[in-house]
Amino acid sequence: MPGLLQRRLIFVTGKGGVGKSTVATALGLLAARHGLRTIVAELASQQRVGQAFEHRGEHFRELEIAPHLFTISIDPERAMEEYLRLKVGAVGHLLSSSRLFHAFAMATPGMRELCSVGKVWELAQLERRTSGAAPYDFVVVDAPATGHGVGILRTPRTFSEIARVGPIARQSSKIAATIADREFTGIVAVATPEEMAVNETFALRDALARDRLPLDLVIVNALYPPRFDDEEVARLGQALARARSPLGRTALRAALSEHARTATQHEQRARLNGALDAEVIELPYLFADHVGRPELEVLADALARRLEQPSPSIGS
Ligand SMILES: Nc1ncnc2c1ncn2[C@@H]1O[C@H](COP(=O)(O)OP(=O)(O)O)[C@@H](O)[C@H]1O
Ligand SMILES: [Mg+2]
Repeated sequence: MPGLLQRRLIFVTGKGGVGKSTVATALGLLAARHGLRTIVAELASQQRVGQAFEHRGEHFRELEIAPHLFTISIDPERAMEEYLRLKVGAVGHLLSSSRLFHAFAMATPGMRELCSVGKVWELAQLERRTSGAAPYDFVVVDAPATGHGVGILRTPRTFSEIARVGPIARQSSKIAATIADREFTGIVAVATPEEMAVNETFALRDALARDRLPLDLVIVNALYPPRFDDEEVARLGQALARARSPLGRTALRAALSEHARTATQHEQRARLNGALDAEVIELPYLFADHVGRPELEVLADALARRLEQPSPSIGS
């Protein structure tokens, strides 16, 4: 199995708020450092990637935010219009400008997901359909929160099975085959070291397994650094028992509660390690007001240390 950076299309999934957009961008930065022409594609119009790089304005276009690094925010309706114009020519034009057709198509269950994932697929093609568009070496998809993330991965197969024949069936089965191709596509789950996020990661793995899609990598994001060893914790406890001043007691309690939180985080990380076949790697919690370019570079460094060397489960 090729390593993650040797594939072309990476889906980053996970529960809301765990750091999917952050990790997707850091992964994009890492690939771009290797000289890979890279795009981070955000689904569900989050526009987080451009914001981290302080880009404003048009987000539904491919926008270069750093050398070799592009971003796009994918809107399902626009993706559908583009597809219709390219594939069905004049009739497509007519359909794509019909508001009734739009409303009808977008109300079809799964159509929004299909259009979004279809655009992602198009970005990952060596021969781009979008006229004048250059190919990408590496496409990172910042998928919506878990349930939806699985939907995005599953929808093409569902459509190909339901439609059976015709252009939708053909296109869907092509996309489904690309997603199932483990040399081409990788699936990454992001989790914070908290019980709920870890539970969701197990649920995600199980949901993907039902579609015979494995998780390639789990990234435990925002791990606190261990600050105190056992002996120091014991001394802090004794100090608290003796402390008289309110300020001193508050400080000691804060230190002990941070230690407790770190310990819980490490338990949750161990739960993940113990129960998954996928490789589990960690990213530190960054104590910053705002995760911007410098912080993303730090996270890309941390990913580099883990992903650039071949390892038993994700190395080739
Ligand atoms: N490793 C980290 N250290 C500190 N803050 C982080 C880290 N990862 C993410 N964040 C912050 O947590 C919040 C949620 O991250 P985000 O990537 O938007 O999550 P998601 O895309 O999963 O909803 C953001 O404010 C982000 O800047
Ligand atoms: Mg996000």
